[in-house]
Amino acid sequence: MVNRPTTNPPSPNLQRMFSALVPWYDFLNRLLSLRRDVRWRRRLAAGLPGWPSPIVLDLAAGTMDVALELARRYPNAKLVAADFSHPMLCRGREKWGCCQNTASLGLVAADAFKLPFRQAVFQAVTLAFGIRNMTPREVALTEIHRVLQPGGWLAVLEFGPPVHRPLARLYNLYLHNLLPWLGRLLSRHAFAYQYLAASIQGFPGPEAFLSELGQAGFRPLPPIPLTGGIAWLYYAIK
Ligand SMILES: C[S@@+](CC[C@H](N)C(=O)[O-])C[C@H]1O[C@@H](n2cnc3c(N)ncnc32)[C@H](O)[C@@H]1O
Repeated sequence: MVNRPTTNPPSPNLQRMFSALVPWYDFLNRLLSLRRDVRWRRRLAAGLPGWPSPIVLDLAAGTMDVALELARRYPNAKLVAADFSHPMLCRGREKWGCCQNTASLGLVAADAFKLPFRQAVFQAVTLAFGIRNMTPREVALTEIHRVLQPGGWLAVLEFGPPVHRPLARLYNLYLHNLLPWLGRLLSRHAFAYQYLAASIQGFPGPEAFLSELGQAGFRPLPPIPLTGGIAWLYYAIK
C-alpha cells in the first residue's frame, strides 16, 4: 500500500536556477552532451508500449524535448507537460508551436511533490533529468505512483555512473572541470553547472535506484545504460 506524500518541500532556489537557465538550456544540452541527449530522449519514448492513444504526463518537462518526442511517436496521445518553472514551460510552448503536432498538449505549472491530478489518471509518466533534483526522492516517486493507472509505466532518464572504468575517469574529469567551466563561460551561470556535477555525483547508482523504485510500489524492469552508462534509462510498472 502506498501512502500519499505528506511533505511538500519548498524549492524556490532550484526553481529560480532553472528559470534563469532557459535562454541557454537547449543549446548547452546539445553542446555539453555532443547531441547524445537527443538520442537518449528518443530512446526513452521508443521504449514505452505502443499504446494507440495514451495519456501521458511528462513531469519536469523543462523546454519539452520529451513531450515533443512523445508527440512524434504517439500522434494521438493526450500529453500533459508539468514543471515548476514557468519560463521553462513557456519556452517549451514556443517550440511546440513550431511543430505540426496532432497530439494534444496541456501545460501545468506544478511541483512534483504535490501534483494537481487525481489518482490513476495517466498511462505513463516520463521524467527526464528531473528525479535527480527532487529530494526526498521517495516522496516524488510516491506522488508519481499515485497519479499512474494500475499497470501504468514510469520512464526515468537520468545521469548515472559509467560502466567502464576508463570512461568513468574521463567522465569525472569532464564533469568536475570542463563542464562547470564551459557552463560558466557560455551561460554565465557557474552555480548551475557546479550544481549539475554535484547532483549527478549524488544520484544513486542503478541498483540503489531500482530498490527505491521498488519501495515506492513499482516493479522495475532491468535498467538500460546509454552511452556507456553516462545516462541510464529506467522503466518501472505500477
Ligand atoms: C534538467 S531539467 C530537464 C528538463 C527536461 N525533462 C529535459 O529532458 O530536458 C530539470 C527540470 O525539472 C524541473 N524541476 C525540478 N524540480 C522540480 C519539481 N520539484 N517539480 C517540478 N519540476 C521540477 C526544473 O524546473 C527543470 O525544468
